[in-house]
Amino acid sequence: MLFGHILDAAIGFTQAEGATIYMVDDETQVLRFIKIFNSKMNVSLNLDEITWPPISLYKEDKQPNLSNLAALCYHEKKSFNFPDVYEQDVFDYSGTVTYDKRNKYRTQSIVAIPMMDHKGNIIGIIQLINSLNAVGKVIPFSDIDIKNLEVLTSISAILMNNHKLISDLQTTFNQFIQSIAWAIDRKSKHFSGHIARVSTLVNMFAGEINAWHDESLKYSSINFSKDELEELNIAGLMHDLGKIITPMHILDKSSKLEAIFNRLELVKERMAHIRSLIGFDISKADKEGQEKLNCTLETLSEYEAFLEKINPGRENFTEKDREILRKIYEFRYSYQDKNYFILTENENYNLSIRSGTLNREDIVKIREHAYVTGKMLSQIKFPKYLARAPLYAESHHEKLNGKGYPRGLSAAQIPLQSRILALADVFEALTAVRPYKESKTLSETYTILKKMVDANEIDGDLLEFAIKSGLFMKYACSYLEPEQIDIE
Ligand SMILES: [Fe+2]
Ligand SMILES: [Fe+2]
Repeated sequence: MLFGHILDAAIGFTQAEGATIYMVDDETQVLRFIKIFNSKMNVSLNLDEITWPPISLYKEDKQPNLSNLAALCYHEKKSFNFPDVYEQDVFDYSGTVTYDKRNKYRTQSIVAIPMMDHKGNIIGIIQLINSLNAVGKVIPFSDIDIKNLEVLTSISAILMNNHKLISDLQTTFNQFIQSIAWAIDRKSKHFSGHIARVSTLVNMFAGEINAWHDESLKYSSINFSKDELEELNIAGLMHDLGKIITPMHILDKSSKLEAIFNRLELVKERMAHIRSLIGFDISKADKEGQEKLNCTLETLSEYEAFLEKINPGRENFTEKDREILRKIYEFRYSYQDKNYFILTENENYNLSIRSGTLNREDIVKIREHAYVTGKMLSQIKFPKYLARAPLYAESHHEKLNGKGYPRGLSAAQIPLQSRILALADVFEALTAVRPYKESKTLSETYTILKKMVDANEIDGDLLEFAIKSGLFMKYACSYLEPEQIDIE
């Protein structure tokens, strides 16, 4: 839009027939066509419609390209004004002649004005052709035209610089968020790549909702704006930001006794020590004593096998297990007036975990990440169009039944974007293929997700949309193993 205004203004006071705006691409050292207009040829092209190759600022031998007027204007940092382009020998106009012949056109008067920013850098060029008088005859551009154009280009340069600064800031912000997301993804072997994939799935979700127009599916009438899509993208990338403070040994706790190291090894060493003490006693005991001690050794072997079985937390911990664990915890071996034990109180507590590997405190610590995400993001002043991204990110563990966290929001308080994020988060966690973790097939995942819908935890309409629109299948084809795709 900005370029359209610049071009309109330039044509307005010079009465030029045609105009071109070029922008300097510092990285590739070219001038890119941004806007092309010609009233006589009925041409009006914007950046995304222009197929012409950019103009190189330097030749192959690295010397400045002075044969093109716009490139010349860039290198000389000054305006050029030719009453008739065919009657000058400052630059090579053969390309213009070829173009004119092909289009039955005659380029005559031409000006090129550099857009210079406050640091003296050329950021773009405006080129105008064929100034017309009141009766439509081509005349040279006047000195007043040049003066006015120079004022316009300097104002334009400031505007474009602001435009570029904003765009650079957005790029920097996005890259910063992405690099933090990458670092958190790298933090845990259990969650590696989680944020990147959730973010991809969330973006796919929004794109599919925008593209889908089947009225039988709720949400298909929703159309996210460009800003809303960006807001959701940022929320996806930031949703697990709070994991930055979650201790790694909790994030990666793959067995009940795992702390900074796996304490099962420590327990086994204690048992080995007790066995060696029993060995000393056996060598000194009578036959009856030896039999008793051998029984204790057997019991110890059974205990060790039992601890190895329950430590990974793969099976539910039963009442029978609890009874065996109690015996192990209470086990004492007395040697030279000292009692030797197998388990500490904390080890016993962790081994008693009913399901999985996390104890109450671990769960609190893990859940804290959603609160921390919100807390961290609340300290950043987001631009207006991203203002709701922190809310979406923070509420990805909220449940429609109000039993979610960190705030326990009600269904009415959970926006669609958070619901999308919540569903994508669970779907990714269930299906992700990672070491030390069993990944679910699509049908297993759908069964679990439907149970969550029945429990009013996640949005059933969204789940139906993701399945019926083929969104989950599309994601699965790109990110899951073929054997996980067990439905058509
Ligand atoms: Fe999370
Ligand atoms: Fe997550």
